[in-house]
Amino acid sequence: MSGNNASTNEANCLLRHVCKLAGDPTQCTRNCSAWIGLSGASGQGGRIAAANVPKGYRNLTLKDSPAREGQSKIYATFERYSETFGRQFQPDAERIKSFYLWSAQPGTGKTTSASSLLCEYIIAHYVGSLKRGLTPQQRPAYFLSVNALQQTHNRAYAPGSQATKERYGDEIDRELRRAKEAPFLVLDDLGIRAATTSFIGVLYDIIDSRTTDDLPTIYTSNKSLDGLYDLFYDEDPEGKIVDRMRDQCAVVEFGGTSKRGRR
Ligand SMILES: Nc1ncnc2c1ncn2[C@@H]1O[C@H](COP(=O)(O)OP(=O)(O)O)[C@@H](O)[C@H]1O
Ligand SMILES: [Mg+2]
Repeated sequence: MSGNNASTNEANCLLRHVCKLAGDPTQCTRNCSAWIGLSGASGQGGRIAAANVPKGYRNLTLKDSPAREGQSKIYATFERYSETFGRQFQPDAERIKSFYLWSAQPGTGKTTSASSLLCEYIIAHYVGSLKRGLTPQQRPAYFLSVNALQQTHNRAYAPGSQATKERYGDEIDRELRRAKEAPFLVLDDLGIRAATTSFIGVLYDIIDSRTTDDLPTIYTSNKSLDGLYDLFYDEDPEGKIVDRMRDQCAVVEFGGTSKRGRR
């Protein structure tokens, strides 16, 4: 049953397009176990919160992504791509691809699209696990802001008390572990600023580990891959990072001008 029934939990729930009970006045409520598993009873927990998606980007599917507008070709590619997410349950299947989303302009829908893909992956994981009688993982996907990671990293190395350094160091270790282990990862906003040798090492560690393990990653950036190579040149003249990223990764350039502040 579908449709926009405001008295149900349909519009809040990521399963709105796939659940047979969506919009059912007696079943599609905040007591639904699938809703609680995905979003927590409060709507602020569950797998979606564990994935660390920024607040404004949490309730997005490909179908209702605002960035779909005017980018039908890119979204047709993403629809086909999301159909490959079922491969996570087929150990012998071809690996799930990675994507590099970029545009020199901000506000073209890169983070929106990456978050929508991440949500689609969680939906595929959650529904696919239940169908197979498996318990869905707590963190099938993870969203990591490269900019935030870089700031934490710089704080861990800046002059300061040992306790502060240790706290930031622990945070970096935790983020690194999550980024390496998540079956599906978004690395948002690569290349906002040049990186130190030590931060290049952190990035390389994540990207190398994921490509070696055949784990899909969605990168977003305001630089082309060649631009990223130039930005990292001083610390990575051999282009090790960009080579690893290019490895079996589809590149999508977002056109147009900024849509920020439109809604
Ligand atoms: N094609 C679009 N049409 C309408 N709004 C859009 C479009 N793309 C993005 N937006 C809106 O613009 C804002 C910025 O999008 P975002 O994905 O954060 O941009 P980027 O990551 O490319 O800088 C968001 O509020 C988003 O909903
Ligand atoms: Mg962005």
